[in-house]
Amino acid sequence: MKGNNMKKECFGKTIKGEKATLYTLENKNGLCVKICDFGGAIQSIVVPTAKGLVDVVLGYEDVSGYEAQDTYIGSLVGRVCNRIAGGTFSLNGKEYKLFCNDKSNHLHGGKVGFDKKLWRVDFAQGQRLGLFLNSPHLEEGYPGNLSVQVIYDLSDADELSISYHAVSDADTLCNLTNHTYFNLDGALSGVAGEQRVQIFADSFTPTDKEAIPLGELRSVANTPFDLRQPQKLLDGWDLPDEQIQIGRGYDHNYALPEYDGKLKHAARAWAAKSGIQLDVYTNLPGLQFYSGNYLGQSALCGKGNKPFKRRSGYCFESQYFPNAINEPSFAKPILRAGSAYEAQTVYKFSY
Ligand code: BGC
Repeated sequence: MKGNNMKKECFGKTIKGEKATLYTLENKNGLCVKICDFGGAIQSIVVPTAKGLVDVVLGYEDVSGYEAQDTYIGSLVGRVCNRIAGGTFSLNGKEYKLFCNDKSNHLHGGKVGFDKKLWRVDFAQGQRLGLFLNSPHLEEGYPGNLSVQVIYDLSDADELSISYHAVSDADTLCNLTNHTYFNLDGALSGVAGEQRVQIFADSFTPTDKEAIPLGELRSVANTPFDLRQPQKLLDGWDLPDEQIQIGRGYDHNYALPEYDGKLKHAARAWAAKSGIQLDVYTNLPGLQFYSGNYLGQSALCGKGNKPFKRRSGYCFESQYFPNAINEPSFAKPILRAGSAYEAQTVYKFSY
């Protein structure tokens, strides 16, 4: 379906003078999602509850925030999300060196990741927005010219689907995600500690002090990472557990059970005040649960002209495991020339 009949508005200009645009996807229930072509970022998701409208994601008022931020609020992340240890990997016997932007490691695609790109809008039709990006050979150090398409699709059942497709002309790595911070009581409601989170996983990948997985899958049983039953975030994120201390809260990859490439229910979050529930589905093997521990370090203002408070939003990042390319036992995010990367994440809202 081609066409451009979606509501769109000017979202300011980048430093280079490129025009950014904000697109609105609205369904028959009045659930409204706004997406910016810069970083492909989800800028707002307004849920029409019986008590009123609640914007459940953190975001900025215009493109300048997305350009200046280093917290990936709302953005699409790539070519490889999360960390690659030492910024190095080998593929087909050749060693590649990536830009290291997180201590001695590569994080979320490097210096200018996909979150810092103005995506081309292929179609903006009804409740579907198609974004496209071309990442040239050796950009940030990755081999292969990579063509990426991301489709946001809002259903009348209040599901926002994000589907990722990519092809490359040479073997490369590809591990794309979306870095939306949710706060189901509202973007400006403050620390999200009272909200309950449930993750349908029996194990997670503990990390070293630089957040690189140790290679082991550890059972969540008898740890603060056991979210198989819903838990309030404030009951877990300050415990004296070594892994919680390393992450300054939750910042860990969960190993989702029975990975077979099919869409599965991975997580749920719920806020008592608004009554909004979020369900997360993915067909990938991992889910990074990040409780916004590093928010609040920047004076940059978001919506409502307010700086972001620490832990005022949390992310569910579907992914191949962090540093998977260097860890023999993890499924590898290798995209071979001639084949296609396909992934899907769905955020479903109930209210
Ligand atoms: C990572 C965190 C990192 C954050 C950056 C998350 O996906 O897991 O370690 O600080 O992104 O905003």
